[in-house]
Amino acid sequence: MNKSSPVSRSGRFGGGPSADVAQFTESVSFDCRLWEHDILGSLAHAEMLKKIGILTKAECNAIIKGLDEIGREIHAGEFQWKSEFEDVHMNIEAELTRRVPAGAKLHTARSRNDQVALDMRLWLRDEIVGLISEIRNLQRSLVELGAENSTVIIPGYTHLQRAQPVFLAHHLLAYVEMLDRDDGRLSCCYNRANVCPLGSGAIAGSTLPVDREEVARLLGFVDEKGRPRISQNSMDAVSDRDFVIEFCSAAALLAMHLSRLAEDVILWAGSEFGFITIADAYTTGSSLMPQKKNPDVAELTRGKTGRVYGNLVALLTLLKGLPMTYNRDLQEDKERLFDTADTVRATVRIMAAMLRNTKINAGQCASASADPGLLATDLADYLVRKGMPFRDAHHVVGAVVALAEKKGRPLNQLSAEDLKGINDQFGADALAVFDLKKAMAARELPGAPGTRQVARQLARWKKLLSR
Ligand code: ARG
Repeated sequence: MNKSSPVSRSGRFGGGPSADVAQFTESVSFDCRLWEHDILGSLAHAEMLKKIGILTKAECNAIIKGLDEIGREIHAGEFQWKSEFEDVHMNIEAELTRRVPAGAKLHTARSRNDQVALDMRLWLRDEIVGLISEIRNLQRSLVELGAENSTVIIPGYTHLQRAQPVFLAHHLLAYVEMLDRDDGRLSCCYNRANVCPLGSGAIAGSTLPVDREEVARLLGFVDEKGRPRISQNSMDAVSDRDFVIEFCSAAALLAMHLSRLAEDVILWAGSEFGFITIADAYTTGSSLMPQKKNPDVAELTRGKTGRVYGNLVALLTLLKGLPMTYNRDLQEDKERLFDTADTVRATVRIMAAMLRNTKINAGQCASASADPGLLATDLADYLVRKGMPFRDAHHVVGAVVALAEKKGRPLNQLSAEDLKGINDQFGADALAVFDLKKAMAARELPGAPGTRQVARQLARWKKLLSR
């Protein structure tokens, strides 16, 4: 046997593939990042092979020792990855077998098809845990910013036109809610990824008595009661990557939320709004205009959403025409997955850091939210309280707005007589609706930006995120 030929080709093939084919088909240049999970899977598989009597204790120990050594070398950057061994799986196995003769037994009842499905699931589980903790950190930074500026009121916008006043904290907490749903979607995705495919072999399992549940248990593929979770159809297990797509889909929604937050940050940092000042360290300058301070972190957050969406579409397209079961096309899943995970993780992290280095300009917020037009709806509600149908009240207040415009005065600078002249339901107390502080206190519905409601939500989130 030609000892140097890649593991999978020994026997059947005369020699290795041509150089251009090897270069075209290799994946080790990017799937080497699965090494830790590949080794974990092999360790569990070896333990199980010992349990069912395929490996002796000594062989199993030698394999474990060999894999540990290889792992240490990879970690230290001393391992020689070889593209002629195609992928991470064959690189590690070939090197193990070179060092430990029993390594040749490790692939018993295993194919790279179930092995790669396993590695991806193991890798993704860890990635999701890491991402969720970053998301919680971003949520914390939003809550902190809101809590530190709990009295700051800004205009809320619809159609990017001033609509009604809200506490800044309420606006920030909207993103905390969105991120909470992202967290939930990722947790669901974790749950579906948390199923062990090993034992599915290339397509049809194995005739050997492998203990799939044991492997699953060893690798933590268990439900909340500690019962092993194993895939129930070998063909499904080796060929679907829906868990990858599901993650990329949840990541796309997360990226969309981050992008919206980024857009608000960009607007608020501009002179027209001036609500926030981002610390110098989280902005960049212009090579030409000396006065510029640009919100590039937020802009790139918005921009990177495109590639996250692109990865999702690439994966959906990759899978859609594949006949059962494993096809080499599936190797294309990795770079899209890795890129998505890296992109959203880095984005969540930098946005959290940027928000922690952002100052709220209370004066600018106060002057914007002093616009009495923001309380025009409150004036209509005043008339509703007097018994007027809302549609009529809306019409009457419209006339008040028109009069203010005609007189060139803000809404709250009209006189009680002006109001009375438009509709006799307006009493002397009508102008009191323009007291912003009282107006905020009056927004008491659950979910509304009222003083007490927002305080309650801030407290709720502080508690939820302290765990
Ligand atoms: N590198 C391959 C991939 O990522 C591993 C599985 C290869 N299986 C095979 N039958 N060629 O999909």
